[in-house]
Amino acid sequence: MVVFPQLRLRRLRRTEPLRALVRENRVNITDLVYPMFVIEGKDIKQEIASMPGIFRFSPDQIPHEVEDIARLRIPAILLFGIPEQKDEVGSAAYHPEGVIQQAIRAIKQSVPELLVVTDVCLCEYTSHGHCGIVANGYVDNDQTLPLLAKIALSHVEAGADIVAPSDMMDGRVKAIREALDKEGFQHIPILSYAAKYASAFYGPFREAAESTPQFGDRRSYQMDPPNVREALREVEQDINEGADIIMIKPALAYLDVIRRVRDTFNCPLAAYNVSGEYAMVKAATERGWLDEKRIVIETLTAIKRAGADIIFTYHAKEVAQWLPAT
Ligand code: PBG
Repeated sequence: MVVFPQLRLRRLRRTEPLRALVRENRVNITDLVYPMFVIEGKDIKQEIASMPGIFRFSPDQIPHEVEDIARLRIPAILLFGIPEQKDEVGSAAYHPEGVIQQAIRAIKQSVPELLVVTDVCLCEYTSHGHCGIVANGYVDNDQTLPLLAKIALSHVEAGADIVAPSDMMDGRVKAIREALDKEGFQHIPILSYAAKYASAFYGPFREAAESTPQFGDRRSYQMDPPNVREALREVEQDINEGADIIMIKPALAYLDVIRRVRDTFNCPLAAYNVSGEYAMVKAATERGWLDEKRIVIETLTAIKRAGADIIFTYHAKEVAQWLPAT
């Protein structure tokens, strides 16, 4: 057995080329998905107060922004829509001229190769702000499924490359798969937010997307934060229903969940570095309390080390400027 002084683990840490040679995990630009908010209207580019550097764009402003994103070699974006009109059943979510549908068409015209992932959910479109149909004060699972399928289909008809249901209803992946297949979209993958926790880390997003529930909270459909075995059941359910990629959300307080899922399933795995995680980093770095570049790279590398293949992050644009092109 080789022990100290023959064994010296510091030998491989002496210079940066040595460290790079033995580095086990790294973040690549090709791993990143950049989330974006699209708001109905014209000539709008509004910064979100709690997410410095992140804006709401109207569909006419989107082409300019996505050209920038493509120039940075970010391979994919995730779209959230903020409609002008909300109603009980979120009908603006599947309107062919809805804000997301307009945005997708505009993106595909200006940068066709950029992968467009769409968030499939009702919360930004319902007057009550819940992710499904409300009946007797409760979000009704089975009544919500056909609507989710309809939304996903309308996104794909507009040109979306991947649909990402984030509602946490049981059976939504199956409902969406069936609806897409029936219309000839067998080739479109589903990325499911399989284990999505009822988290306080979504605070800034709800301001950005105007999607705060008007009564109650999301705990009757999103997962209870203390649970991890249940996350494995959620992931298993979605894989069995036909999900192509699985997502865990949030990322940082749930690195153990990412690791458990990575060790248990062979599906491509994504993690969502959510709005509250971004806001905390921005708040501290703006005050000069943390070194932004180092904090962001360390954080995203930790998400990779935990086992994620894909990272959804609001830091994508800045990271793409820091990382060497791959
Ligand atoms: C919609 C949705 C949410 C997020 C992504 N999709 C908010 C929520 O469930 O309340 C959060 C994203 C973020 O915080 O960055 N259901």
